[in-house]
This record gives sequence, structure tokens and C-alpha cells, in this order.
Amino acid sequence: MPCFVVATPQRTYEAVVERGVLARAAEFVPARAGRLFVLTTEDVWRLHGARLRLGRDAEMLFFPGGEERKRLAEVETLAEEMVVRGGDRSSLLVAFGGGIVNDLGGFLAAVFMRGIPVIQAPTTLLAQVDAGVGGKTGVNLVAGKNLVGAFHQPLAALIDPSVLETLPEREYRAGLFEVLKCGIIRSPALFALLVERRDQVLARAPDILEQMIAASVRIKAEVVSADERESGLRRILNFGHTIGHALEAETGYARFLHGEAVGFGMRAAVHLAERTGCLPSGEAAEIRRAIDLYGPIPPLEGVAAEALARRLRSDKKTIQGRVHFVLPERIGQVRVVPDIDEALVRAAIAEALG
Ligand SMILES: NC(=O)c1ccc[n+]([C@@H]2O[C@H](COP(=O)([O-])OP(=O)(O)OC[C@H]3O[C@@H](n4cnc5c(N)ncnc54)[C@H](O)[C@@H]3O)[C@@H](O)[C@H]2O)c1
Ligand SMILES: [Zn+2]
Repeated sequence: MPCFVVATPQRTYEAVVERGVLARAAEFVPARAGRLFVLTTEDVWRLHGARLRLGRDAEMLFFPGGEERKRLAEVETLAEEMVVRGGDRSSLLVAFGGGIVNDLGGFLAAVFMRGIPVIQAPTTLLAQVDAGVGGKTGVNLVAGKNLVGAFHQPLAALIDPSVLETLPEREYRAGLFEVLKCGIIRSPALFALLVERRDQVLARAPDILEQMIAASVRIKAEVVSADERESGLRRILNFGHTIGHALEAETGYARFLHGEAVGFGMRAAVHLAERTGCLPSGEAAEIRRAIDLYGPIPPLEGVAAEALARRLRSDKKTIQGRVHFVLPERIGQVRVVPDIDEALVRAAIAEALG
């Protein structure tokens, strides 16, 4: 079964993509670990709790979920609860749920008693291919998403594709945009799979599902191993995210799921790549067709190119006032381009808005 090593200065661990891996979760719990805590949401626990076998009793921590609850206040409440239930420096946390549980649980583990180990068990497609691997953890501020956080690599990432059977269709499709992103930035084979096997992808055919998750996790593992802290290569994972984040923020995080916003951001980035001469028109059209195969995303009515361009200037990824764009040069290869003329960016966004 596919198993990818993530080797970072902080820790080296495995990301295991395997049907039924949750049933052997106990193998990933060190014998010396003290009290076990499982952070999850009621829905995930009801649907899939029986799959997770830790081999020992665990204290359950339920979290209501939702982007508006991914906040420091929740971390404090959960930490207090952990202390009351006997948590100490030897405790271990399992974050079992979507990206919100992975982000908040990872951060809770990063700061509880100055850091306890976490096992990530992601249960949405988005979290399986992205949030559950790589060690980025955090919570939101009123001022913006993920503005407080820590790099805290897990002991292991246990990725069980069988839990995706119950994922709502819209969440599944949103996750597919992140898979497509992986193909565009680094894997022509993954890109081809998504284009050629659309029906099976949408039907969640088990072998196709495993192939595409494994391909995406392999990419994430390679990229994070080369650059844990996003000072270089890891930036390529932000393809489609610069303008995608602007769209999410502009619409108050209410209209678009993260993956859908990334779908839009990739479309705009492809227009930009074409306009700057980075990407030939034929391949640009090919990428846009692939994005359309997994759409449509909710209507973009009322969103103005100017407003999105303005948002870009306050993006977290803006470093000393410079917006960096990840642009494809061909399918499977991207490069980071700083300082693109703002008029070009606005025009590309306007083109993507249609
Ligand atoms: N740390 C990172 O590198 C990273 C990367 C990408 C995204 N993220 C973060 O991930 C978050 C989004 O994650 P998400 O898209 O997984 O959303 P989510 O965690 O809100 O999950 C979506 C919904 O699906 C439910 N759910 C989860 N698993 C299910 C299953 N198997 N069956 C049925 N329902 C299920 C959840 O309870 C929730 O209601 C954002 O906060 C984003 O910032 C982090
Ligand atoms: Zn993303």
C-alpha cells in the first residue's frame, strides 16, 4: 500500500494511503505515549468512529466544526478540558476529521504543554491530499484565515480513502480541485488521469480514488520534504491560492468552499500565465477545460476584478508588499513569478470572472 515518507528537519514520518489503515492506527501510537485524546466532530465520529482502532481507551474531544469555530478560544477550551481529563506532557492527540479538525487539532497539540505529538487522520478529500500532511497548523483571526499557527509535523498521517464514501458531493468536488492543482504543478500523469477518467473520478471508483490520493500525497510529501517552511519549493502548492484566497475573503468565506475558490484562482492564474507569455495558449486552454470538467463552482455574480486585485495586496503570502504568483509553464511544471504588473493581474481576473 502506498506509503510516503515526509522527511523534515522537525520530524520524519509516514503518510500512509490505505483502505482500512484506521483499523491499525494502534501501530502508530508509541508504547510510551500517555493518555490518548481524539479530537473529532459529531458527524465524523458517528459515520466513521468505529473504523478507528487505537488499541487503548481514548478520551474523546468533540468540536462543533466550521471555519468560524477554528479560533484560539476553542483551543483554550479544549486545552482546559484536556487538563481536567488528565492530559500531560506524555499525552498524544489524534485529529480525526476534515481540514478544520486537522488544523485546529494540530495547533492544539503544538501548544499543549509546549507541544505533544499528534497523529493526523484526515477524512475529507481536501484534508487527505493537503491539510493532513505537511505540518501546517493554525486557527483564524478576525483579520484573516490561518493568521495564528505553528509548524507541527505529525507522528503519522493515516489516510483511509474508504471514509470518503460519505462525503457530500460538493465537498468531494471541491477537494478534486486541489487534486487537479497537484497534477498541474507537478504531475502530467495525474492531470491526464483527471481528464481521461472523469466519470470514474466522480463516481469515486475505489482504484481511481486511491491512485489520485496517492499521487497527490506523494507530491505533497516530496515538496514538504524539500522545503518544510515554505521558503522556496513549497510555494508551488499555492498555485491558484493567491487569487482563490482573495475570492474567499471578498465573499466573506460564505459563498465558496476553499477548493472551489482554488478552482477559480487556478483559472485566473492560467489567464495570467498566458498573458505574461509564460504558458502557451494550447496548454492554457487544456488546463481550463480540465478545471471546467469538475465545475461549475457557485455563480460569481457581484464579484469585481478590482476588489479582488485590492485584496491581493493584503494577502498573507504578500512578502514586503510583493505579491508572488505561481504560474504554469506547462502541464506538470510551474514557477514562482514576483512583481507582475497590476493591470495584467486585473485583466486576468476579469477574464476569469467571464
Ligand atoms: N494545513 C494545511 O496545510 C491546510 C491545507 C488545506 C486546507 N487547510 C484548511 O482546511 C480547512 C478546510 O478543510 P475541509 O475542506 O476538509 O473542511 P471541513 O473540515 O469543514 O470538512 C467539511 C465538512 O465535512 C464533514 N466531514 C468530514 N469528513 C467527512 C466524511 N468522511 N463524511 C462526511 N462528512 C465529513 C465535516 O464535519 C465538515 O462538516 C480550512 O480551514 C483550510 O484552511 C489546511
Ligand atoms: Zn488549498
